[in-house]
Amino acid sequence: MKALTILPGKQNSATVRDVPEPPLREGKILVRAVALGICGTDFELMSGEYGWAPPGQDHLILGHESLGRVEDAPADGRFKPGDLVVGIVRHPDPVPCMACAVDEWDMCRNGRYTERGIKEVNGFGSEIWRSHPEYLVKLNPDLGMTGVLMEPATILAKAWDHITRIGQRAKWEPKTLLVTGAGPVGLLAALMGAQRNLEVHVLDRVESGPKPQLVQALGGTYHTGKVSDLGFRPDVVIECTGVVQLIADSIDCLANDGILCLAGISSYGQQISLDLGKINRTMVLENSVIFGTVNANRRHYQMAAESLAKAHPDWLNRMITRRVPLNRWQDALKREPDDIKVILDFTQA
Ligand code: BGC
Repeated sequence: MKALTILPGKQNSATVRDVPEPPLREGKILVRAVALGICGTDFELMSGEYGWAPPGQDHLILGHESLGRVEDAPADGRFKPGDLVVGIVRHPDPVPCMACAVDEWDMCRNGRYTERGIKEVNGFGSEIWRSHPEYLVKLNPDLGMTGVLMEPATILAKAWDHITRIGQRAKWEPKTLLVTGAGPVGLLAALMGAQRNLEVHVLDRVESGPKPQLVQALGGTYHTGKVSDLGFRPDVVIECTGVVQLIADSIDCLANDGILCLAGISSYGQQISLDLGKINRTMVLENSVIFGTVNANRRHYQMAAESLAKAHPDWLNRMITRRVPLNRWQDALKREPDDIKVILDFTQA
């Protein structure tokens, strides 16, 4: 079978090549790939900055934003041939730590978790893949190709879950949301904010094209320019770019009792000058919270499925701006100005 592989740690090693079909020990459910979303983490993996091969192997099969159809499953189980499914990315550490022991592997304490297509386990970027039933989620078949948005949606489902839990520390009724970055993660953050009846604002540097249209379709307001020019102080900020200046500006703009959720991953070595005295002073005097969030557990897959089910199908379709067949995989890696979510479409020849 064909698979998109990299040599972790080596720049530009991505290639599509023939690899053996996955062994039964990778799970009893056999899945035929339908699509694979490409995200910033995949670019980091391909640039050699991030990623680990399975123990004893050189190559890693890439891909963590999966969509597939069950091809074969034990007759007595939950899955039937034809089911539309996504694979859960992170698996618990073997110790397990106290978080992994209760299936909260997204909060793994010792860092020994594994992640499909990222850390020590092959991903979903192959024509066929396998999964254990407990790491597979069945999707509403009506989602069709937009089911590929499930994994990024779980990241925001977790972010919102934690924002809500932090908010419950006191009486708090947030009204305004600022999302920085109108990529897939930012737009899904905005979707879930709109579903919570917040006044949604999204800031990005792109001035036209599908991004502003998708924000407007949610009833939100699209901004370009500076956070300091927004003219209001958001109750919630979800930072989805990892751009350090935007992080600093987001800290500055938070409303009293505000929550800043960091969901974008920055690269190392971005030093800017900050007045930490001022940051501490305002955070203390205004009860601010800044927190980071990564990954998602099974509960968040359920929350993400509910959110996608409530979203307008046309809105979800417009999030997928390019579908590239596997044999033209290199085209999927060229960034184009109107790109939001680019996917490898395994159903096209
Ligand atoms: C994935 C997460 C993963 C994180 C860190 C993200 O792109 O969506 O599932 O935990 O990268 O590896």
